[in-house]
Amino acid sequence: MSEKFYITTPIFYPSDKLHIGHTYCTVATDAMARFKRLQGCRVCFLTGTDEHGQKIETRAKEAGLTPKAFVDNIVEGDKGVKDLWKLMNISYDRFIRTTDGYHVSAIQKIFKKMYDNGDIYKGTYAGMYCTPCESFWTPSQLKDGKCPDCGRPVQPAKEEAYFFRLSKYAGRVRDLLENTDFLQPRSRVNEMVNNFIKPGLEDLCVSRTSFTWGVPVDFDPGHVVYVWVDALFNYVTALGFANGQYDDYDTFWPADVHFVGKEIVRFHAIVWPAMLMSLGMPLPKRVFGHGWLLLDGGKMSKSKGNVVDPYLLAQRYGADALRFFLLRTFPFGSDGNFSNEALIGCINTDLANDLGNLVSRTVAMAQKYFGGKLPAEQEALAEKDDGLIALAAGLREKVGAQMERYAFQSALEEIFTLIGRANKYIDENEPWRLAKDEANRPRLARVLYNLLEAVRLAGGLLSPFMPETAAEILRRLGNPPADWDSLGRWGLLPEQAQVESGPALFPRIDLDKELAELENATAAPAAEPLPEPLPEIAFDTFAQVEMTVVKVLACEKVKKSEKLLKFTLDDGTGTPRQILSGIAKYYTPEELVGKTLVAVTNLAPRKMMGQLSCGMLLSAERGEQLHLVMLDGSIPAGSRLV
Ligand code: MSP
Repeated sequence: MSEKFYITTPIFYPSDKLHIGHTYCTVATDAMARFKRLQGCRVCFLTGTDEHGQKIETRAKEAGLTPKAFVDNIVEGDKGVKDLWKLMNISYDRFIRTTDGYHVSAIQKIFKKMYDNGDIYKGTYAGMYCTPCESFWTPSQLKDGKCPDCGRPVQPAKEEAYFFRLSKYAGRVRDLLENTDFLQPRSRVNEMVNNFIKPGLEDLCVSRTSFTWGVPVDFDPGHVVYVWVDALFNYVTALGFANGQYDDYDTFWPADVHFVGKEIVRFHAIVWPAMLMSLGMPLPKRVFGHGWLLLDGGKMSKSKGNVVDPYLLAQRYGADALRFFLLRTFPFGSDGNFSNEALIGCINTDLANDLGNLVSRTVAMAQKYFGGKLPAEQEALAEKDDGLIALAAGLREKVGAQMERYAFQSALEEIFTLIGRANKYIDENEPWRLAKDEANRPRLARVLYNLLEAVRLAGGLLSPFMPETAAEILRRLGNPPADWDSLGRWGLLPEQAQVESGPALFPRIDLDKELAELENATAAPAAEPLPEPLPEIAFDTFAQVEMTVVKVLACEKVKKSEKLLKFTLDDGTGTPRQILSGIAKYYTPEELVGKTLVAVTNLAPRKMMGQLSCGMLLSAERGEQLHLVMLDGSIPAGSRLV
């Protein structure tokens, strides 16, 4: 049986749509999973969503939805998590949602088991709580009195709660971190040991009573399981541990690697192994803590409003270009700064210039000089071919060695060294000169054959990173075998290789024009933080607001005012109503005449720029955008909104 490989991404909090930072880790996991499949492994690639906890409960409330309806929309809805993974060609084998029934009941069994074995006990928790991170912190862990993860204020909180005996496992966990290669990169080991273990590992609070959106502790109503316990065990429940939904635990556990962002290494490298130790379960072989994608040097987050939309970028440039950019540009273990300039520069340089040109020049020359099919008469290999051939024939091993270290950037560097060498080989051999003399045809055929082989090997080894592009490159070479064995062998294409052309793989992008367009496209309202929710009001209070359908009879700018438009409105009473509204930046008077709008008509009149305004026009605002509420003209003026 082939070797098995189990790889996971962190499961996402569907409290907002995903941004490019989330996409980064999943793209890396996908490349690794595809690479292992290419090597012939039996792969299980798990991803999913972490749907419980206070943050989700709060966000759902703000949206006026039940928590389940709220997360359903973000996970399954239009442009939701699953849509994005489809667009990005993420080849996951399993998608877990922690609200799935099988997971919920498995978590209850697991929690009870740790309670029964004495590692979970009941106590009282008093500490500082960070709501967005769902984390309790001890005073010594706070940074300047704030949450050490997100820097936001924390609140004192106290509640009866269950605790996990994390302290009991401190020694074994420290040994695991210091004396094995469980946690990578190695620099993360020091962070964990110095920041968390040396100061003294305290028992972990693993239940909550202050909200209800979580897995209920079935033997103690009122408590829900701490979201991190619920979340971490997804890695085994998704294989069928403590449930009958799947039967893959024996095959795939322990995981070969968990890829996780650096801020959640603590949970994966300390809490997770300790809980597995408590249950006597095998530990994952490795946890890899990758760096963050930063924007202007800071972490992207929805609440800061500085997120980059992967949907927009993938639709604009293609999933492959975006995948490639993420893996080629940033070393996986370190932080990296995202910018549109870097993305477009990478597409132009590596993809359009180097890869795209190599493929199109090689195929075009095979077509021009040999009608698309190389002749059987080819000159023997010459010494000047050695450099290219040695590089191409050794590429698979080099890429393999880098991938074993999760060094995606270096793996791609190896492939692009071959691509660069092949482009240089064209210049050195000047096929266009060879073509001028019939006597050189065998050499010309040999040069093109060598180039096609280099393209085959580079193209095939690019498949984990850019699956669609790799398939297209191989299609142009007549779909040669592209399994692991074939990618380690030089000279596999038939001598009379036949090629097919196609459009430019990656057309060059005009940087300045594109940056300007992107600015506009990314200034989407979704990037604006949501306004603070208002306090609840009684229905009677709401019912006191008189909202009336009005028709615009006349509209003009108010003299000496940049902002104000003066409206003369038909409100159905027969007496025209005058309203002033500060929307001159958004609408011209002419475009509004004849429109059907909504006005609050029982507001006390007030003077603006010396003129009386009797009411207020309703509009929706977000960031730089403003839209007047407009109705279909068939509704008569004076009708009420209820
Ligand atoms: N739900 C937890 C994970 C539970 S795993 C048992 C969680 N979810 S998350 O949605 O907040 O983050 C998911 C992953 O995205 C994390 O690994 C996090 O580090 C990663 N990233 C979020 N923003 C990121 C960047 N800006 N850059 C790179 N990765 C980032 O944590």
